[in-house]
Amino acid sequence: MSADTLVLEARGLVKRYGHVTALDGCDFDLRAGEILAVIGDNGAGKSSLIKALSGALIPDAGEIWLDGQRVYFHRPLDARRAGIETLHQELAVAPALNIAENVFLGRELRRPGFLGAALRMLDKQRMRDDSTRQLQQLGITLGSMRQAVETLSGGQRQAVAVARSAYFARHVIIMDEPTAALGVRESNMVVDLIRQVRERGLAVVLISHNMPLVFSLADRIHVARLGKRVAILDPALVSMSDAVAVMTGALVAPSASRPTAP
Ligand SMILES: Nc1ncnc2c1ncn2[C@@H]1O[C@H](COP(=O)(O)OP(=O)(O)O)[C@@H](O)[C@H]1O
Ligand SMILES: [Mg+2]
Repeated sequence: MSADTLVLEARGLVKRYGHVTALDGCDFDLRAGEILAVIGDNGAGKSSLIKALSGALIPDAGEIWLDGQRVYFHRPLDARRAGIETLHQELAVAPALNIAENVFLGRELRRPGFLGAALRMLDKQRMRDDSTRQLQQLGITLGSMRQAVETLSGGQRQAVAVARSAYFARHVIIMDEPTAALGVRESNMVVDLIRQVRERGLAVVLISHNMPLVFSLADRIHVARLGKRVAILDPALVSMSDAVAVMTGALVAPSASRPTAP
């Protein structure tokens, strides 16, 4: 796969809520193995875009392509089955359940043969083993898989949520403000984790208001404004203040910031 193979694409997405146009012909391109940041002011259509790409909303118009195939997501499960995992802003864990149970939440492994098929018995040992391996591969050390998630810090909980997404995602992980609820040290841990996820060949969509985070992590920056993609910026060529100016409309991208081709 070449570096600019597109894994996920959208063309002309439209979503209206009554008189409000949340998506106004929005395009989107995600390359294989990249971290693409999505930035934009409040109301720019970031969440609506991510919802369309993750099956949480059905666009009024437009097309979505995954690995070169047209896809139609009617609900989040459709996108998950297609290999797109989404991490929502609210820490997405069940506090009373343990780490392994959280990794496999809603997708529990059954025992092989009769025990699993007829008696629906869970394969707890395999879920613990797979969770341990998954966390190790991502460089996360949390101790016993039997610990309740409520005993973990915010950053550790987020790490469990990332591990779950990375375990099930085959193509893409979408993260909506993954560090918004975290302190500096814990944010750094999640940043390392996002890099690990990219190392494993998954493409990451990162929605964030945190410009230093965006500039340290992103390979490219998608700028959302008034329901459209108004620029694709190369963080190596553009300053943070120019990126913010493009985001707010104070600066028009082509003259100011040399957008890269999609
Ligand atoms: N469920 C909804 N009902 C009505 N309006 C909505 C809804 N969701 C989003 N909007 C509106 O659509 C626009 C884009 O919202 P959103 O996609 O959440 O932007 P962002 O995530 O960039 O802040 C905003 O004006 C918002 O108020
Ligand atoms: Mg939003």
